[in-house]
Amino acid sequence: MIDKNKLLAAIEAAGTLKDLEAARVAALGKSSELAAALKTLGAMPEVERKARGAELNVIREAVEAAIEARKSSLESVEINAKLAANPADVSLSYEGARRGKIHPLSQVQDELVQIFGRMGFKMAEGPDIEDDWHNFGALNFTPEHPARDSQATFFIDADHLLRTQTSDVQIRAMEENGAPIKIITMGRVYRCDWDATHCPMFHQIEGLYIGEKVSMANLKGCLEDFLKAFFETDDVPMKLRPHYFPFTEPSVEVDIRCTIENGELKIGPNGKRWLEILGAGMVHPQVLRNVGVDPEKYQGFAFGTGIERLAMLKYGIPDMRKMFEGDARWLSYYGFDAGDVPTLAAGLSRR
Ligand code: DAH
Repeated sequence: MIDKNKLLAAIEAAGTLKDLEAARVAALGKSSELAAALKTLGAMPEVERKARGAELNVIREAVEAAIEARKSSLESVEINAKLAANPADVSLSYEGARRGKIHPLSQVQDELVQIFGRMGFKMAEGPDIEDDWHNFGALNFTPEHPARDSQATFFIDADHLLRTQTSDVQIRAMEENGAPIKIITMGRVYRCDWDATHCPMFHQIEGLYIGEKVSMANLKGCLEDFLKAFFETDDVPMKLRPHYFPFTEPSVEVDIRCTIENGELKIGPNGKRWLEILGAGMVHPQVLRNVGVDPEKYQGFAFGTGIERLAMLKYGIPDMRKMFEGDARWLSYYGFDAGDVPTLAAGLSRR
């Protein structure tokens, strides 16, 4: 006779999942009393077999149910033991997954892409390591030209340097596509500078528009539209001040009327000062000749400025060097949420 209570007691007595498995094998396994009893059923007369079979089934079901119950209670004992050994502080508040922020430089570059994209400028690109011809020569800086001094930089060898300006892309784009052309480019440039508003590496945006009838008036209109859209204001009092760049003639620097108070930029006719914001001019005929464009047929303008500076002015960022320290606290303060950034697809198409 199988002692059901003894089997159930053995299951109940199992202290670990391993003990329980041993009890299961003893109660239900191949060499168990139950298995042996089931084997004898076949030789019994039918009436007896039915009665005995039902009896054995009751035992088996009771044993199986007991194993399941014991198993889940042993499992929770194990989990509780693990938690006790390595406690979690459930009173700690959960901040949710930490989301990153868009760096203000990326934000501003996306804004620029949007603005100039709407004006019909296409995107062009150039390398960080540039040769002397594209960075200087073709832009009308002769080897002894004093204007090179204002752009002291890092030379890789006698002919290669980390580019000092994105104006090199004017040359590359015209060498590739000739005229007419209407492009902007953005990227890293390098100079020997280091203070709160200058870094050895920074970013510039450069624009170039060459056509048969592109004039200085178009330059002024384009820059005015740009400044209004970028600084999100209707009135941007602007002054074109004569300047010198080797690759433009005439050359200008563009100032805007504004006041900066507590890091906040207020643009308007009541501003207290003129603030230099970009360099620009009509592309020098020699630059056009250098890239095989006929200056008798084509003319146009170019402009360029620092992107960090635009970001610092618009978003009240005091120290440029902090932009590149990778400090998450700085970024969580000055950064932007992903939804604030317009998508590239809506603006310029990359060439
Ligand atoms: N490349 C100049 C610089 O780095 C900025 C500049 C001035 C770009 C006049 C231009 C321009 O395209 O026309 O200082």
